[in-house]
Amino acid sequence: MNKTLKLCFIGFGNVGQKFSRLLLEKEEWLKSRFSCRVIVTGIAGRSKGSLVNTGGLDLTAVLSMTEQAGHFDPDSPDFFTGTPEALMDASEADVLVEMSTLSIRDGLPAADYMRYAFRHGMHVITANKGPEAWYYNELKDLAADNGVQFLYETIVLDGTPTFNLMTETLHGNALSGIAGILNGTSNYVLKLLEEGRSYEEAIRAAQEIGLAEADPSMDIDGWDGAAKICAMANILMDAHITPEDVSVESVRSVTAEALKRARSRGKCIKYICRAKRAGDKVLASVRPEELPREHAYNSVNGTSAVFTLYTDLAGELTVIQTDPGLLQTAYGIYSDLITLMKRI
Ligand SMILES: NC(=O)c1ccc[n+]([C@@H]2O[C@H](COP(=O)([O-])OP(=O)(O)OC[C@H]3O[C@@H](n4cnc5c(N)ncnc54)[C@H](OP(=O)(O)O)[C@@H]3O)[C@@H](O)[C@H]2O)c1
Repeated sequence: MNKTLKLCFIGFGNVGQKFSRLLLEKEEWLKSRFSCRVIVTGIAGRSKGSLVNTGGLDLTAVLSMTEQAGHFDPDSPDFFTGTPEALMDASEADVLVEMSTLSIRDGLPAADYMRYAFRHGMHVITANKGPEAWYYNELKDLAADNGVQFLYETIVLDGTPTFNLMTETLHGNALSGIAGILNGTSNYVLKLLEEGRSYEEAIRAAQEIGLAEADPSMDIDGWDGAAKICAMANILMDAHITPEDVSVESVRSVTAEALKRARSRGKCIKYICRAKRAGDKVLASVRPEELPREHAYNSVNGTSAVFTLYTDLAGELTVIQTDPGLLQTAYGIYSDLITLMKRI
């Protein structure tokens, strides 16, 4: 075996650590399937510090150091002081795996890290939907101009095939629309409201199970959904939109009484993201909608998610993801790694 694929991580939080564990578990399988050793040569955190070793970092030791101390050891010979861009250079990596914090408002600095990686001949796999929501076309073109791959399967519905489903399986179809329940926190909050809890109680419960952020407004007021539907519409419908173009109504406008009234009429209220072709434009929205009882989305409760693709040839397709967790997010990145290894 003489091939080696070097990865550089930016971000080593929940997703970075879970993906590292999955990589350790699948190391031998990847080696035997692709006759290629996958190693991690750089990891950039923000408060944790950064690490680099062009011969391959010891991921087991890095994970245990992070668990015990919460940061990387400044006395380690692998400790690196410098910007994420300097780390990408020093790591000599073939692939940037971008797993840093999402900025829904501008997709930065993640998009800048990706631009740097593409310009320096690195492939990019990302878990971060901000860059695709704000700059998808520019990033896609930059990747193509530099002859490298740009992969992002886990940004919506984690490891559920969403983008792969269109590009690998439903090829040849044109999309007239996309719909979905794409934000687990707001869907969970609606369920608890319907059970008689107040907004405050419902949000606290979502925080307690690690679903909602300390500041849950990005989920509840629709901006997470706006970023997701934007990314989907840009990638799958060539929409050229940003989250600022999405018509957003907060889920806070739904009252417990409205939920009960809808139920008494055999209906349900769900927080729906939509993108729809209208002439040469794509219009996108995130808002509460009343749906008939028999609608497939009626059974999508709690942390589960769903999307529907409206295609011209294969018809209407709905995919439900039941209670996703971090393993599914890590799997989405792992599936991109396999796609990359198949392509190169
Ligand atoms: N959690 C999920 O279920 C999920 C699902 C799908 C997609 N995602 C996406 O995956 C990404 C990571 O999520 P997460 O849950 O792992 O978040 P997290 O636990 O908060 O971890 C974020 C990591 O990014 C690092 N970081 C933040 N800003 C940085 C910067 N400017 N430069 C370098 N590193 C930086 C942080 O460093 P320090 O720790 O050193 O501060 C941390 O290691 C996000 O974009 C998120 O939207 C998450």
